Amino acid sequence: NPLENTYRPLHHFTPPQNWTNDPNGMVYLDGEYHFFYQYNPFGDKWGHMSWGHAVSRDLKTWEHLPLALPEFDNGDGTTTMIFSGSAVVDSANTSGFFEEGFTKGMVAIFTSHIDSSGTGIAQHQSLGYSADKGRSWKLYDENPVLDIGLKDFRDPNVIWNEQREAWLMAVVKPREYMAQFYESADLKNWTLLSEFGQQGDTTKIWECPSLFKVPVEGSDEKKWVLLISSGHKTEGFVGMQYFVGDFDGVNFTVQRQDDVFALDHGKDFYAAIPFNNLRGEYDKPVIMGWGNNWAYANDIPTVGFRGNFSFPRALSLTLNNDTYRLKSEPIVSEEIKTYEIDSEVLSLNEPSFHLHVKRDVSEKGFELKVAASKEEFVLFSYDLEKSELSFDRTMSGKTDFNKAFPSVETVKVSPKNGEIELDIYFDVALVEVFINGGEEVITNQIFPTSYKVEVALK
Ligand code: FRU
Repeated sequence: NPLENTYRPLHHFTPPQNWTNDPNGMVYLDGEYHFFYQYNPFGDKWGHMSWGHAVSRDLKTWEHLPLALPEFDNGDGTTTMIFSGSAVVDSANTSGFFEEGFTKGMVAIFTSHIDSSGTGIAQHQSLGYSADKGRSWKLYDENPVLDIGLKDFRDPNVIWNEQREAWLMAVVKPREYMAQFYESADLKNWTLLSEFGQQGDTTKIWECPSLFKVPVEGSDEKKWVLLISSGHKTEGFVGMQYFVGDFDGVNFTVQRQDDVFALDHGKDFYAAIPFNNLRGEYDKPVIMGWGNNWAYANDIPTVGFRGNFSFPRALSLTLNNDTYRLKSEPIVSEEIKTYEIDSEVLSLNEPSFHLHVKRDVSEKGFELKVAASKEEFVLFSYDLEKSELSFDRTMSGKTDFNKAFPSVETVKVSPKNGEIELDIYFDVALVEVFINGGEEVITNQIFPTSYKVEVALK
């Protein structure tokens, strides 16, 4: 089975070859969803960071396009890497990069990262622009556009701020656990509006911020959500946290929040950002995340490429006990076959499938085992006393490529009308578990040695 040798998911976006990490510059324009991503054109480990590029018309199948923004030489022995960032459609040509009246100009706002032996690391924000829907790019000749002299200052995420009819950038000072908001009329000149940080999880560095409006289920209300990716391999596992609140055009204020809210409880969901400029089909923000973890990202046993991305997920908010929480609903290819799981044992021999489970837990919890053998399986269980759903991948196949990999993830979830509902998507090496319609999610990679499995619920 060739899949066992490559571990390339069939229904998730992966680069044609080589290394990838964060999603970048996600933006909709003229029927196309553009997906850029951190990419190493020269190898399957992190390095030479550049922006890869793909487009989709339905968020389910993707067409690979040539490299968009390559790392470049500065002519003084240093190179500039193109780190994470965002893209906007500058339909009013505020930047002046395009011909008068041209409405389809795309501008990328990214972190320019220079590592030089003399002066150390420098990170600042720079611009690229494209007049042919992202197929070819030019760099602004007065880059960088935002430099505060900090070594760590990155991941600009720009949206149109309707309240002030200006561009708004969220960007982070990772080591200060601080997001900053800047404003610009032309994408070139930026002034500081406000800051938000030093709260929530500050045990790991802050990366990849994004601020956007999310509809509240069952009402006309919308609230603002700030997503933050926190952590790096030197500081343990990474994950994503979020804050819900209000944004008056200048300041982001957060709801009273005693807990840290995790967007996903698995090990493999990071650096997610939303599509910019969404129109039509989706009335909710749609995000995608990197399905890997810095703790072991460079060691996963995939062949010919390294790194994948989650399904696109449409986000909404639910309001319970005065607290807003995010809910994620996956956008999934119809080609993935669904199996309704009850107590009968099911035999499968395919690398990608969807298991749907709806189980009454009013008296006891359950165990769902997807097993290739006695020694190789993935175990999902619901513990009624603890109100905890867990995903155990310690026996999931190849796990010894990095000692941080074998793990058990748990999340607290209450039954709904006495039931727990799971939508579990297995796609070769990526497993996404949506609990109770996406109120909680667990995303984990696995590297099985066989796709011939028995699914048993008890
Ligand atoms: C997050 C990150 C970003 C940075 C990029 C570099 O995974 O560390 O902060 O821009 O990766 O590849």
